[in-house]
Amino acid sequence: MLPKPRHLMSLADLSAPEIKRLIAHSFALKHYSKPWADPPIGNVIKQNSGSTPLLPFQSLLGKTVALLFSKRSTRTRLAAETSLALLGGRGLFLGREDIQMGVNETVRDTAHIISGMCQGIMARVGEHEEIEELAKYADIPVINGLSSLWHPTQILADILTLHENASAFTHSHKPRSLAKAETAQPSPTLPELPPLTVAYIGDSANVLHDMLVTYPRLGHTLRVASPRQYRAPKEVWDRVWGLGCDERIEWVEDPKEALKGANVVYTDTWISMGQEAEKEERLRAFKGYQVTEALCKEGGADPNWIFLHCLPRKPHEVDDEVFFGPRSLVFPQAANRKWTTMAVFDLMVGHWKIDIPKAKA
Ligand code: CP
Ligand code: NVA
Repeated sequence: MLPKPRHLMSLADLSAPEIKRLIAHSFALKHYSKPWADPPIGNVIKQNSGSTPLLPFQSLLGKTVALLFSKRSTRTRLAAETSLALLGGRGLFLGREDIQMGVNETVRDTAHIISGMCQGIMARVGEHEEIEELAKYADIPVINGLSSLWHPTQILADILTLHENASAFTHSHKPRSLAKAETAQPSPTLPELPPLTVAYIGDSANVLHDMLVTYPRLGHTLRVASPRQYRAPKEVWDRVWGLGCDERIEWVEDPKEALKGANVVYTDTWISMGQEAEKEERLRAFKGYQVTEALCKEGGADPNWIFLHCLPRKPHEVDDEVFFGPRSLVFPQAANRKWTTMAVFDLMVGHWKIDIPKAKA
C-alpha cells in the first residue's frame, strides 16, 4: 500500500532543507529541459547514479493531475500544464463552471472521486478552508495553486530568480538590464545567495504570507510596509511564530522605513481576486505605497536594488518606470513558475517523496 501523500498548503509545511531541495531541483530541471543548455542529463544522472536518481525523467508518464481552478490564472495554469507535459503527464483543467463541486457535490466527495482517477491535484480556491478540506479527504497529493491565505508555488519561483541573479547582490553597483536578465545563460551551478534584505511594500495577502514563513528560514530579513488594518491574519502569524520566523521580520507602516538598505523590493496587487468591491477603500488606504524610483531612493534602498512582482500587475502598486525598467526581473520570475512547479510535481506527485536522498558520489 502506498504511504499517505504529503500535501503542500503553504511553504510553512516544508522544512528549510526541503525548500532548498525544491529550488535546486527546479534549477536542474530548467537546465535539463532548456534547449540552449548543454545536455546536462548525463552529468545529472552520473552525479546521482544511486538507487534513486535525482532526475527520473517523465515521472508522471501516464499520470493525470486534476487542475481545480475556481479563480482566473495565467501563470499558475501555464506552469502546471506545460510542466506536466514535460514530465510525461497530463493536466486536466477543471474550472469552476465545469465540475459538480460546490454546486451539486461536496468538496469531500469530490476529493474521493478525483483520488480514484488521478494521481495529484493542484487547486486554486477562494477560502483557504476549501483546499484544507480537499487535502483532508484526498488520497493523492494536493498542491495549493493559491488560496485566500497562501501561494506557496509563487515563492519558490521568486527564490529561484533571486539565486539566478545572485551576482546583482555580490557585485556592488553592477549595471543591470532587463534584456540581459532574460537572455543570460545561467551557470550550471545554482549560485549561492548572500543574506538579503527584502522589502515588501503593499497589501498583506497570500503571496506575502508565504514569504513570511519562508525568507527568514533561508537567512533573509523581511521588512514589510502595510497599513495597520491590512496586517496578516492570526492563522498566518501562528505559523510565523511556530517556525521562529518573526525574529527576521520587521513590520512598519511607512514604506520608506521598510526600504532602508533593501536589496529586493517586492509588491503585489492591492486588490486581490475577490476584493473588487473594496477597490475604492483600498486605493485610499494604500495611497503612498506605490513602488517608484523616487520612493526607493528616498527610503534608502540599496543602489542596486532589484524589483519583483508575482503578477498580474496593476499600475497602482508600481509605476511603469520600475516595472519595465532595468531593475525589474518580473518576466524571468514569471517564467520560473514553470520550473519550480515542475519540481513540485516531480518530487511531490511523481515520487510522493520530497526528501529523495542524494546518491553517494
Ligand atoms: N502569479 C500568479 O499566480 O499568476 P496567475 O494568477 O496568473 O496564476
Ligand atoms: N494576491 C493576488 C495574487 C495573485 C497571483 C491575488 O490573490 O489575487
